[in-house]
Amino acid sequence: MKITIIGTGYVGLTTAVVLSYLNHDVAAVDKDSSKLNQLHDGKSPIHEPGIQTLLDEVHHTIRFTPNVAEVVPDAELIMIAVGTPPKKNGEADTRHVEQAAREVAEACMPNKHYTLVVKSTVPIGTNRRVAQVVENVFTERKIQGNVSIASNPEFLQEGLALQGAFYPDRIVVGANSDDAIDALRRLYKPILEQTFAPPSALPRPATYHLPPMMTTDPNSAEMIKYAANTFLALKISFINEIAGLCEEVGADVTEVARGIGLDARIGQRFLRAGLGWGGSCYPKDTAALLGVAAKTGYEMQITEAARTVNFQQRTRIVNKLQTILKTLKGKTIGIMGLAFKPNTDDIREAPSLDIIRQLVTEGANVRAHDPIAIPNAKQALKDISVTFIEDVYKLSYNADALILVTEWKQYHRLELRKLAKHMKTPILVDGRNLFTPREARTAGFHYIGIGR
Ligand code: UGA
Repeated sequence: MKITIIGTGYVGLTTAVVLSYLNHDVAAVDKDSSKLNQLHDGKSPIHEPGIQTLLDEVHHTIRFTPNVAEVVPDAELIMIAVGTPPKKNGEADTRHVEQAAREVAEACMPNKHYTLVVKSTVPIGTNRRVAQVVENVFTERKIQGNVSIASNPEFLQEGLALQGAFYPDRIVVGANSDDAIDALRRLYKPILEQTFAPPSALPRPATYHLPPMMTTDPNSAEMIKYAANTFLALKISFINEIAGLCEEVGADVTEVARGIGLDARIGQRFLRAGLGWGGSCYPKDTAALLGVAAKTGYEMQITEAARTVNFQQRTRIVNKLQTILKTLKGKTIGIMGLAFKPNTDDIREAPSLDIIRQLVTEGANVRAHDPIAIPNAKQALKDISVTFIEDVYKLSYNADALILVTEWKQYHRLELRKLAKHMKTPILVDGRNLFTPREARTAGFHYIGIGR
């Protein structure tokens, strides 16, 4: 199929690359010229495992352009995958989505059928607004347009985006017209039927089953996206709340998570207690959902509480350290990990940023390491004094404590003894329960985990 994707961010680019690999004819539009230059040179502007290899394979087949009008007329299906940043009050700003819809409607040929798909995460009701925008443009142009609109929310996880795109759990489509549903079924046919040859670095998981394509109305599809993210966010906040109580009563939350997760109704995943969620999705989407609810006068107490518990995790860990060290003033603290989770250089809403700011406010000297996120963190923390260190072992030299914030695999492979031996006081606050208390203590650390 001939497809245009508007927006080459994390979702747009992943989708473009994957659809091109599946032999669709893809054009990708972005207004950011520096991004486009990189893409023209075949370089991925995002850090995502596997994306560069796949881009090497397909980038010559994708047409990258800043101009919607250049590629939309010929397209059969157009996807909007632009950002919906939070407004000051937490609501998602859909300005870019509406602008993209307008440009698409201005470029559509009369009498030709198009499917316009909203992939961006948008407040419930946006699909209807997009339809209105398109209709208004057609009225201004005095033409009879023929556009079917669908919502197709995205469930990709950073760090696992390609796995999620090739081997999704489900595909959700919200549309009022059979035309739109048929177009999306054709688009995703190779994935729904798993008829493609897997890329060499992304073999099909042995236990993978064909994914269902669920079709529903647009409002429900938009709600599914927010409800899914909010549910995962509150699953994590729940285990973090249990972790706090485990500390009070002397239980181990990792054991508790294992024990409850063995109940198939609960499941093992997303029960890792720690410093909670960051990133561009859960903080933004839970706030946006609350914004949607507030507009209707509806109160969402569980979602509110999930956010409160989440952000408290960041202060709790600093308070813990303060209790042990008596004061943080003049103390040297090493931060292991800046990215909001491993395998990404994304630091948006990362717990590391709040923790570092609090430590600095309390008068601590902060050193920080991350395998790839240092450039982004430098930018985000440029107003305060933080020393960024490339060699993780050097974090520990004469330090009073280390806080592990991101559970990078390479940290697990570290020689803990070597880290402990250079410290003034070998204290390890393990914010992700990456190490076992026993291995850390054997290496000479005073070990503090979360909920154990
Ligand atoms: C999340 C969802 O998982 C995706 O399905 C969704 O498409 C995406 O948001 C989005 O809306 O675009 P992502 O933000 O990339 O994906 O990251 P997750 O892997 O879900 O992790 C989010 C945060 O939760 C991370 O900070 C992670 O450290 C934390 N987390 C995760 C925990 O603290 N405990 C866990 O057990 C799992």
